[in-house]
Amino acid sequence: MTESLDRSEAPCDSVRVELGARSYEILVGRRLLVRAGQLIAERFAGRRCVVVTDSNVARAHLAALEGSLASAGVKTTSIMLDPGEQSKDFDHLEVLIERLFEARIERSTLVIALGGGVIGDLAGFAASIVLRGIDFIQVPTTLLAQVDSSVGGKTAINSRFGKNLIGSFHQPRLVLIDTDALDTLPRRELLAGYAEVVKYGLIDNPTFFAWLETNGAALLAGEPTARRHAVVTSCAAKARIVAADERETGVRALLNLGHTFGHALEAETGFGPALLHGEAVGAGLGLAFALSSRLGLCPAPDVTRVTRHLAAMGLPTTIADLPERPWSAARLIEHMTHDKKVRAGRIAFVLARGIGGAFVADDVPIESVRSLLAEFIDRGAAPARASGATS
Ligand code: NAD
Ligand code: GLY
Repeated sequence: MTESLDRSEAPCDSVRVELGARSYEILVGRRLLVRAGQLIAERFAGRRCVVVTDSNVARAHLAALEGSLASAGVKTTSIMLDPGEQSKDFDHLEVLIERLFEARIERSTLVIALGGGVIGDLAGFAASIVLRGIDFIQVPTTLLAQVDSSVGGKTAINSRFGKNLIGSFHQPRLVLIDTDALDTLPRRELLAGYAEVVKYGLIDNPTFFAWLETNGAALLAGEPTARRHAVVTSCAAKARIVAADERETGVRALLNLGHTFGHALEAETGFGPALLHGEAVGAGLGLAFALSSRLGLCPAPDVTRVTRHLAAMGLPTTIADLPERPWSAARLIEHMTHDKKVRAGRIAFVLARGIGGAFVADDVPIESVRSLLAEFIDRGAAPARASGATS
């Protein structure tokens, strides 16, 4: 990780994703949207751009990006899509691809994904298949996208059989992270992204987790130095893991900590606004640590620290904190069996020997998972519910 000065003399951090000929930089700093034109022009001279965004992000940030590209002499067309997870489907992909052709893209055209994980995944996937693959740049505007989805090259749309089942690995050529873009992000979305930040501390960085225990509230309140430290630390962790295992045949699976439970919870609520991805991951982190403790792997005080911190920030940590519904352990396990991470019929869980001690296990007795879920569901149904419900 280095700190560099761009031509406007404002410092930004640079994290490199080392992937040989496909290596790229992640630039993190304040006011990067208004500097994006210059940063792109000096790296991709003479290339035309198509910005893909959604209507919420467009309202808040498109003018700044377009203005900056125009000032740097970069020819640009913009395409605006509907916001939300429902845009990650074949219909919206087709619309986007037709709009790209209407914009007369060529092999040298750069797609710029300006938005959260939905726009990044969708625009990245479109870029990976049009004209047999063209370059794209990620300009993430949610915390989740800044610390996770914009880095690592996973692109996807959803199928009626499950989330992110149709996609490709297509690495961006550059990731530009303007931490000030988070100023306009709704609090609930910010909090959902925070669960992915916590994940990096829990995987292998107990020092970062301890830093979050002290500084998480400041980060969420928008304190610039805290934001920057959290985003840079998260990106550096993701860059290291992706460089070691781009196609998720090994260590990259650790990034799924909390996600086996989380995806099942999301599937049960229909991948809609009732439960955001990051909220499901928050509950999933709590459940993964509870399961690790149940299996005799993780000391109980570590489980308490994890759930106490997530709850203190306002995230769900268990099923009792989720929207009321008739939860069923059997149905949640059924969802898990459809997960991409199932290998030879076995459900893979990321467990932990403590904070910072995550590992992948594919031999977890399903009965232990069932009884844990049943117990937490019963606890949620009991009159003395845990406080901190999120929606
Ligand atoms: P999102 O893209 O839907 O954005 C959340 C909401 O915030 C949207 O309504 C959006 O319009 C709005 N928004 C975005 N930036 C804003 C800003 N700065 N100001 C105001 N509003 C803003 O959701 P997300 O949480 O960013 O991403 C979730 C998606 O990411 C899921 O589809 C998930 O599968 C995917 N994902 C992908 C990866 C990966 O590695 N590719 C990793 C994690 C998640
Ligand atoms: N978000 C998980 C990954 O990129 O592998």
